[in-house]
Amino acid sequence: MRIRLPRFLLPLFILFIAGCAAPPPPGPDCSATPCVALTIDDGPNRNTAQVLDILAAYNAKATFFVVGSRVEAAPELVARMVAEGHEVGNHSWSHIPFPRLPEAQILAELENTNAAVSAATEGYTPQLFRPPYGSYSPRVAAIVPYAPVLWTIDTGDWEAAGYQEIVRHVRQKSGPGSVILMHGFTRKTVRALPEILQNLVDRGFTFVTVSQLLARRP
Ligand code: NI
Repeated sequence: MRIRLPRFLLPLFILFIAGCAAPPPPGPDCSATPCVALTIDDGPNRNTAQVLDILAAYNAKATFFVVGSRVEAAPELVARMVAEGHEVGNHSWSHIPFPRLPEAQILAELENTNAAVSAATEGYTPQLFRPPYGSYSPRVAAIVPYAPVLWTIDTGDWEAAGYQEIVRHVRQKSGPGSVILMHGFTRKTVRALPEILQNLVDRGFTFVTVSQLLARRP
C-alpha cells in the first residue's frame, strides 16, 4: 500500500508528529540505544494471536493500527494487544481512503473506531492515526484531530514474492528510528516476523512503540 504523498512531504509529517506527541510514555531511551518501531496494520485478523505470540517470544513491543470493524469482530485480540504492552492506533473503521469523504464521514470513521477500541479494552484510547493507504491531504489534515503516522520503511509484504523477500528488505533498509510498515493479514509476514525480529536483536535494536519512538526523538 503506497504513500500517495510526494516524498518530500514525509520529513514534514515526521516533524509534525514529533511536535504533537503526547507526554513521553515509559520506555527505552532511544537516544542512547538504537530503536525501531514495528507497525502492524489492518487487523485484528486470524493471524493476530500468532503475531502476538511471536512478539512475546522476543519481548518486542509493537504498534497495531487497527480497523474498527475488525475490532468489533474480535475485541479479545485488541484487549490482548493492550494487556501485553503494545500500542493500538486508529486505522479507520472501514479502511476507506479519506481524501474524497465528507467531513462527517471521516470523523465517524475515527470516532467509531476509538469507541470500539475503548469498549474492547476497558477504556484505552488510541493516540495515533494512520490513514488508510497512507492517503492524506491538507483537507483531511484540517479535519482529523490527530497527527498522521506514516512509516519510513514499507516492507511491501502484501505483494512480496515470498517471506524471504520481506526479511531481506527489512534487513537492508532498517536503521535507528525506523518505522516499519507490515500487514498482519498475510501469512508471508507471519512467517517473516521471527527472522526480522532476530536480525534486529542481533544488530542491537530495541523494539519500541511509535509513541515511545516519537517521544524520544531529539
Ligand atoms: Ni491499511
